[in-house]
Amino acid sequence: MATKVRGPLGQLGALARDFLRKPSETRPLGKFAIGAAKVSHFLESAATGVRAPLPGPQHQAVSRLKRPISASTITTKSIGANNPEPAHPRRPNNLARLLESGHPMLNTVSRYYFSASGKHIRPLLVMLVAQATSIGSKRQGRSSILVDNEFDHIDYSLIDRSASQTIQSDQESQASNRLIQDATRDGHGGRPYSPHVTAGLTILPTHRRLAEITEMIHTSSLLHDDVIDHAETRRGLPAIQKKFGNKMAIFAGDFLLARASMALARLRDPEVTEIMASVLCDLVDGEFKQLKNLEVEDAPMSQPDEPAFAYYLEKTYLKTGSLIAKSLRSSAILSNSTDDIVEATYIYGRNLGIAFQLIDDLLDFTVTWKTCGADLELGLATAPVLYAWQEFPELGPLVARKFSVDGDVAKAWELVHRSEGIERTRVLARQYMERAAEALRILPPSSARDALERVAMSVLTRTK
Ligand code: FPP
Ligand code: MG
Repeated sequence: MATKVRGPLGQLGALARDFLRKPSETRPLGKFAIGAAKVSHFLESAATGVRAPLPGPQHQAVSRLKRPISASTITTKSIGANNPEPAHPRRPNNLARLLESGHPMLNTVSRYYFSASGKHIRPLLVMLVAQATSIGSKRQGRSSILVDNEFDHIDYSLIDRSASQTIQSDQESQASNRLIQDATRDGHGGRPYSPHVTAGLTILPTHRRLAEITEMIHTSSLLHDDVIDHAETRRGLPAIQKKFGNKMAIFAGDFLLARASMALARLRDPEVTEIMASVLCDLVDGEFKQLKNLEVEDAPMSQPDEPAFAYYLEKTYLKTGSLIAKSLRSSAILSNSTDDIVEATYIYGRNLGIAFQLIDDLLDFTVTWKTCGADLELGLATAPVLYAWQEFPELGPLVARKFSVDGDVAKAWELVHRSEGIERTRVLARQYMERAAEALRILPPSSARDALERVAMSVLTRTK
């Protein structure tokens, strides 16, 4: 029988998927993330409770990494310029149980995309950041549950209790709360779940819940997106609205968001709640910007210059980077990390997210199995088109009318392929990826940090 060969991202995704399915004690992520981890002096200092002072160079590095990359001037020679150094689950998983409702149909529809083989890159990153930051310097003055690793006594079932007594005011809510409480214990015997520690690196139950919330928000946005984009397929399945219709798709997306919000409130961390809530605004903002596509005050942009790239990159951040960046920031906050470490995880996520979407936009012009040119069909001018427009000014009118005239899509496709647009997009993505990797150096060395770097690299070579 032929064995399925997985690329690096596929392997990471499989591990994250496994992680979300298994009870905490038996999860294999530690093995992947840790590898042959050597316990560094960072680990020792964390174990002895010695807090590292806030290092000046970290702060300088953070400031430098916040400077914008000039997108409109990228050439294929810009490599390195940024950085001088080089089906339904077999058994219900945590997410499925979190999505239990009193309506069988809603259960089926809201779990539909979780049954397919997604990459699960977002929960994987949240948990790797949890591990990578578990040994970093810690914030002063914020109550820490990680001081001297004395977390054994913490009752993490707190995060599964009702956020407000009023939620329990009727019978149905009580039933639903019981389901959530059952769901959020480790499943066997109703034990509250406990921190997962491998080779000194820790994932707290709050991190695990954050990973689940992140995937719920992401999937909710896809349910809405597939209706907007009239998608045919997703994750190898017929798109949600093709199977269940628009109304069900939107209901399921809203339900996912509602359950994610409840789980978020139960983390009882106001800072994380605020950050993750702002992601929802960003997603809508990004999607709206995409709908408007290079229109400012109802007038289309007339040049593929820096403002046009800034618009496109801002949209890209809002639509894809924000959820990754802010969930990683939240993961570091849950580890009680110092501000510079929190900021570094955000910068890593922001740049990785933008690189990820740039490659996605590029694949729309290259991968044969994907519905090539789907973005053009939707009227979208992504990076390959903007670069092609710099070489072929005749693309301008096509962009302005969103490729709506017969033959526009084919013409734009041809010009993109005759231009350096695809290669320049890849170089731009590489610059973002390098910046993401550079931000990681602010974190203490660990096998989890190495894994985060490998994820960043694999984004550039991904084919799906
Ligand atoms: C996929 O993009 C879509 C997103 C990353 C975000 C979609 C956001 C919304 C619909 C706003 C509403 C958000 C919530 C949380 C309800 P794509 O179409 O480029 O990618 P695809 O090829 O995978 O569809
Ligand atoms: Mg879409």
